[in-house]
Amino acid sequence: MSRKPIRAGIRPSQGESGAEALTERLKDVFSRWATGVTVVATRDAGDVIATTATAFTPLSLEPALVLICLGANALVLPFLEPGARYSISILGEDQQRAASMAADPGPLARTLFPPDGDPVIPDAVAVLHCTVDEVLPRGDHHIVIGAVDDAELGPEKPPLLYFQREYRRLG
Ligand SMILES: Cc1cc2nc3c(=O)[nH]c(=O)nc-3n(C[C@H](O)[C@H](O)[C@H](O)COP(=O)(O)O)c2cc1C
Repeated sequence: MSRKPIRAGIRPSQGESGAEALTERLKDVFSRWATGVTVVATRDAGDVIATTATAFTPLSLEPALVLICLGANALVLPFLEPGARYSISILGEDQQRAASMAADPGPLARTLFPPDGDPVIPDAVAVLHCTVDEVLPRGDHHIVIGAVDDAELGPEKPPLLYFQREYRRLG
């Protein structure tokens, strides 16, 4: 069976290298991958460090493992070394503001979380309490594999979605 190379169809414009054209094409291709939205957060000396991540994937049931992909420069990454505890909150459709706040490196994101305990977004549709198992640097991102210590279901409501660079709702 013949396979089309991924570069097929890319027409680099004058002055633009093939690699740059592929990167731009990939941004558009990746934006067509519809996802849910999570907030990943950990505590360091009482302070919460958080980020918004759509690159979340359930990995294994037994043992219970999940993964997230974080940019190599993500501020939260140095706090997610093997053994670190963190939480993943899966957001509901009414929690777009929390997604935007957690994506912002400013101090406002901290106000989203309870003053102590695991740093979870209140009323998220589901929460995973994890311990970092392994961090695998790959390209410009790191794959953070987490062992799930506990899992909670929140209120039943539709999830927040992200597609073509915009927040969306089901239906
Ligand atoms: C909807 C949405 C989804 C995002 N998904 C990811 C992701 O999966 N991985 C990632 O590294 N950054 C993702 N980001 C970017 C981070 O949330 C954050 O903005 C970026 O890491 C810069 O913040 P920092 O300097 O605090 O790390 C996403 C941002 C938004 C708004």
